Parts: sequence; structure tokens; C-alpha cells
Amino acid sequence: MTDDETSDARRVRAAREMPAGHGPPTTSAGDASGVRDLGDGLLIRPLTVEDVDLRLAHVQALVPESGRDGTPLFAPYGRDDPYPVDTARASTLERWTRSLDVPRWGRSWGVFDGDALVGDGELHGGDLRSLLHRTTLGMGLRRSHCGRGLGRALLTTLVDWAVAQPILDWIDLGVFEGNAPARALYRALGFVETGRAVDRFRVDGAHVTDISMTLDLRARRA
Ligand SMILES: CC(C)(COP(=O)(O)OP(=O)(O)OC[C@H]1O[C@@H](n2cnc3c(N)ncnc32)[C@H](O)[C@@H]1OP(=O)(O)O)[C@@H](O)C(=O)NCCC(=O)NCCS
Repeated sequence: MTDDETSDARRVRAAREMPAGHGPPTTSAGDASGVRDLGDGLLIRPLTVEDVDLRLAHVQALVPESGRDGTPLFAPYGRDDPYPVDTARASTLERWTRSLDVPRWGRSWGVFDGDALVGDGELHGGDLRSLLHRTTLGMGLRRSHCGRGLGRALLTTLVDWAVAQPILDWIDLGVFEGNAPARALYRALGFVETGRAVDRFRVDGAHVTDISMTLDLRARRA
């Protein structure tokens, strides 16, 4: 365990003593390994092809939490439009096995509580060679594990990894306007708003404004 990881573990433990929504301060591990041992049985690590079914099951369980029981709407799937798990398996494996200089690459990380996958984050490349300097981020934790500092630790892990990839200069993402926790987390780690698409998604009757945010990785390499 590195000094940074020890410090992360301390922050996560401290966050557990705090009310939900008041997690630890910004981390800055600068660790490109993509592995972060948070202590107390919590681990962030890259997912491999052996993890694909675990990851799909996680997303299938996560999506129905969107917009329910106090959780903000975060997924672009309605009640009658479930996450397409069958097609997702093949496309996920394809993304994970492409190198970063090939369009449609992807890498995912898991947040494990013991053996249970309780969160995931993904970075993926665009469809064109001319997009290879940018990557798009998505992430989600199960409600049971939100508000404990894990989102910050996961995002920091992904950003640190991306900073260490010379081919990547920007991380982009889209976040629903009403998703205050996610927007606050992204702002806290330096993402800036670049645009808004009003009525971008319609989910179970809701007209959803999608906010584009971006992080300039070059500024972190100075
Ligand atoms: C959004 C999400 C990743 C945040 O992760 P998290 O582990 O809950 O957040 P953390 O405990 O690490 O907190 C990090 C920061 O997020 C913000 N945040 C977290 N919970 C919040 C809440 N309830 N209200 C407002 N801000 C909140 C704060 O800025 C916080 O920093 P602070 O602790 O210094 O105040 C997580 O809640 C999640 O996965 N939600 C469901 C899926 C989702 O919305 N994904 C993003 C789609 S774009």
C-alpha cells in the first residue's frame, strides 16, 4: 500500500463517520496503476474480461435505482426500456480488448466491497481516429455505497490513470441537470461545464436537460 492509498483509506474511513453527502476532501494520488486499496475490504481495480458478467449484473441492478427513492435521475433508460444487457456484453468485451489508439476502445474500473461489485467507472474512446485524444466518462455506485467518499476515490483513480496516458488530453462527460451529487463531484475534481442540451432525453415523461462537462488533462501534466 502506498502513502497515497493509506491517505485515501483514512479519508474513506473518516467519511463513514460523517452524514451522507459530506465525504472526504479532494484526493490527489497521482497513481496511474488504476488500483486503490481503500481499506476495510474496499478496493478499486481495473475490470478484466473475466469480470464482464459481474459488471453487467451491476449495471442491471444500478439502472433501476435511477430516479427512485430519492436518488436523482441518472440513467437514460425508462421503465419500459431496460438496459440492453444482451448487446452490451459483446460490445463491452470489444471495447475492453481494443488498444487506446483504436476507435471505440474502453476501460472499466470496479469498486469492490469484499467480493461484491458496488460501483463502476468507465472511460471510452469515440468512433473516429480524430477523436482519439478525448475520452468519455461514465460512473455509478449502488445507492447503498453513495455518500461515503467512494465516488471521489473512483473518479480520482480514473483521472490519474487518464493523466498518465499520453494519447489522452481531455475527459468529457454528460450529466443530467437534476443530478446535484454528480455535478458537485465533477466540479470538485476540476471539470467545467461546456454546454447544455435542453430536452436531450425523455425518460418516463421527464424532459431531461443534459449538461456537458470536460476536464483538460494537459493542465495536470505540468
Ligand atoms: C454521483 C456519485 C458518483 C457520487 O459518488 P459518492 O460516493 O456518492 O460521492 P462522495 O461521497 O465521493 O462525495 C464526493 C462529492 O460529491 C458531492 N456529493 C456527494 N453526495 C452529495 C449529495 N447528496 N448532495 C450534493 N453533493 C453531493 C459532493 O461534492 C462531495 O464532496 P464533499 O464530500 O466534499 O461534499 C454517486 O452518488 C452515484 O454513483 N450516484 C448514482 C449514479 C450517478 O448519478 N452517476 C453519475 C451519472 S453522470
